[in-house]
Amino acid sequence: MGTQFTNEPISSLAADWLVIGLNESAPLTPAVAKLDETLSGLITRLIENEDFTGKLATTSSLLGLTELKTPRILLVGLGPAAALSLSSLEKAMMTAARTISGKQNTRVAVLLPDVGKTSVSTDDAACLIAASMTVGSVGQDLYRKEAARYPFQEILIAGTQSTDQAACQQAVERGTILGESINLAREMVNRHAGDIFPISFAERVVEIAKTYGLESEVLDEKQLQQEKMGSMLAVAQGSDQPPRLAILKHQGADASAPTLALVGKGVTFDSGGLSIKPSDGMKTMKCDMGGAAAVLGAMTAIARLNLPVNVIGYMGLVENMVNGSSYKLGDVLTARNGKTIEVLNTDAEGRLVLADVLTLAVDRGAAKIIDLATLTGACVVALGEEVTGVFSNDENWSKAVQDAAKSSGEDVWEMPMFPQFAEQLKSDVADLKNVGTRWGGAITAAKFLEHFVDETPWVHLDIAGPAFAAANLPHREGGGTGCMVKTLIEVANQFESKK
Ligand code: BES
Ligand code: MN
Ligand code: ZN
Repeated sequence: MGTQFTNEPISSLAADWLVIGLNESAPLTPAVAKLDETLSGLITRLIENEDFTGKLATTSSLLGLTELKTPRILLVGLGPAAALSLSSLEKAMMTAARTISGKQNTRVAVLLPDVGKTSVSTDDAACLIAASMTVGSVGQDLYRKEAARYPFQEILIAGTQSTDQAACQQAVERGTILGESINLAREMVNRHAGDIFPISFAERVVEIAKTYGLESEVLDEKQLQQEKMGSMLAVAQGSDQPPRLAILKHQGADASAPTLALVGKGVTFDSGGLSIKPSDGMKTMKCDMGGAAAVLGAMTAIARLNLPVNVIGYMGLVENMVNGSSYKLGDVLTARNGKTIEVLNTDAEGRLVLADVLTLAVDRGAAKIIDLATLTGACVVALGEEVTGVFSNDENWSKAVQDAAKSSGEDVWEMPMFPQFAEQLKSDVADLKNVGTRWGGAITAAKFLEHFVDETPWVHLDIAGPAFAAANLPHREGGGTGCMVKTLIEVANQFESKK
């Protein structure tokens, strides 16, 4: 069971599938050449006949083999050797995992590719392959009688005699943890709103905290009232499901060390409230807790990797619904920090939830903050469905988060925070209004949040595009994506552990 590194020779690996990544127009590595010999030159013939070219993420299945302990081989193209990167390797390995995970109890062995003189290290490749096999073999099958794919029963990652066994075993364990934390975030998003609502989300948080040795705390509606979280509570008021604020703590460093706060928007369903969404805009709104799911996933990995840092995850959980008590247009709310907010659109609810949670994070001593939210359709208009918008009040902190995203292979792009955008949020009757004009909507949303972080270095990640994928791709399952989980773990990994 589980995921293992091994440097046994290929011929002695026992598995259902052997995955071999091959570069485009490159000679076979010694290990693959030896295998080719065992197969009487089959791989060479496939390449000569151009039936397999090594083009990135193309595959070829060799079935019914008798010469090896593995009856099947999947060749997967890695593209040109010189262009090998973590993201091309991920695309290839995710495609491979998705291609061969259709049967139950599959054991897979993956040959560690030759990273040669590329920018990719052997450890990073081993970690990435473990993560890709873990993520790629899990589909959206939560509610189906017959699953489209099944998690691998066993994952073997095979190096050569010269590979550093201990380092690779560690990398493989790390990759498995990354993959499992991404899968947790995906699962939370993929569960429908009848399964995941504020109370059930918070219960899951508590259960997970027990499993991984995190400290947890859940504030119920009474405690949220005591905290004067009038902005978040207003959103919750139109739902039969009461709100919760779930908090997870990982203390990996001294109490005097700075705390990283991760804050997630956890709107378990966003109907739009009285500013109700049309069906088309509402049908994927179970995904509106994607920020909270990313925080939950990342916190599990931070705990399991025992990172020597202090991190607190805050998940603001509400359902945005319509009933006789719904908050209304023209309502003036008082947020936890005393600022008043005129509500002019009940569908701009995410910022109302985050406003109160951010001030709590600040008051509880966050040295630096990252919030994640499926916040605006405008961000999707600006950056498309696969890029996360970055907004910040602090250049250095923003750069640190962007660097972490880059080394995690997640695409992010920084948006401007010019002061003139804040003009749109001036209200005639309150300190702020919750919406601006049509223009620059992702930025005005960020400018709204900025009112609730004081001077604390803060990065807001708008994941409205990448948190949920409408369709399957060869290298990625549709549904919840677990986006930004890897980046958050990397940020924590780089975070200061001393005062
Ligand atoms: N949850 C939505 C944003 C969203 C849109 C997420 C598409 C994922 C995919 C958010 O609460 C919302 O409704 N935003 C409004 C803001 C507007 C009323 C200012 C929007 O984007 O239309
Ligand atoms: Mn909304
Ligand atoms: Zn929303």
